[in-house]
Amino acid sequence: MNEKTPFEKSSSDSVYSLRNVSLFETIYGKNLISIGGFDSVEYMFSDLETKNLNALDIGFGLGGIAFYLAKNHQMKISGVEVHPWMVKYAYENAPKDIAPQLSFAVYDDQGQIPYHAESFDMVYSKGVLNHVRDKASLFQQVNTVLKPAGLFVITDWIFPQSAPNNAGPLVHETQESYRQVLQNAGFHEISFRNDSKMFLGYVQDLLKNLEKCKMTITQEYGEDLFSGIWNQHQDLIKDIQNDRKFSMRILAKKSAH
Ligand SMILES: C[S@@+](CC[C@H](N)C(=O)[O-])C[C@H]1O[C@@H](n2cnc3c(N)ncnc32)[C@H](O)[C@@H]1O
Repeated sequence: MNEKTPFEKSSSDSVYSLRNVSLFETIYGKNLISIGGFDSVEYMFSDLETKNLNALDIGFGLGGIAFYLAKNHQMKISGVEVHPWMVKYAYENAPKDIAPQLSFAVYDDQGQIPYHAESFDMVYSKGVLNHVRDKASLFQQVNTVLKPAGLFVITDWIFPQSAPNNAGPLVHETQESYRQVLQNAGFHEISFRNDSKMFLGYVQDLLKNLEKCKMTITQEYGEDLFSGIWNQHQDLIKDIQNDRKFSMRILAKKSAH
């Protein structure tokens, strides 16, 4: 399966560019770049204590999840990204009343998370880690910035088998490979919750909304891009229905000492 997204014309033409913001928001919701809207954000943390926690968002994108958790869960959120324009965007678009609870940055010159060791009660990441090939190094850094007994909360796609040479733009992790890389980075109490049924509903809703926005998207971005996005989400539905892809909420704990 060709997993290049319909936004990408060539490998140098990154999907995550400022000119795609209105497209992302039309497809995914205000300040979001991942499937499921704020319902899926709420569900990601549904069984966890979050109130007043100090958390780090890996791959905050436009900042929507950070804004939501700051406002609705009274959390203090920092974020790290690979794109400097997203730092500026998130600061500029953060609601004024929660601005003091937020901080955003890119990785430092050595590619490290730019926050001190043992800074956070929780680190979370939604829809990001299937882009990250070297999870070992990132997860070790996550372990370092977490306080003892801190929680790492992930929403990501898991595959029944790894891809033949794992060469596509998205990394195919299995439940086992995920568990292993988390364990190697010092995490324990690792658990997987299969949220595929919920995600099936989210993708179906997304397609209904996409149909309504067809004219707007086609006028601004062209017919080909619209059909690319449409087909990609139709394929995703088939993949979920046929157990070729699972949406998992993954929890992993740093040891207490
Ligand atoms: C699908 S978007 C999700 C954004 C956001 N989490 C959301 O749900 O709206 C994926 C994001 O991951 C970011 N990203 C990719 N590789 C990353 C990495 N190694 N560390 C942090 N962010 C990364 C991209 O820049 C992009 O903003």
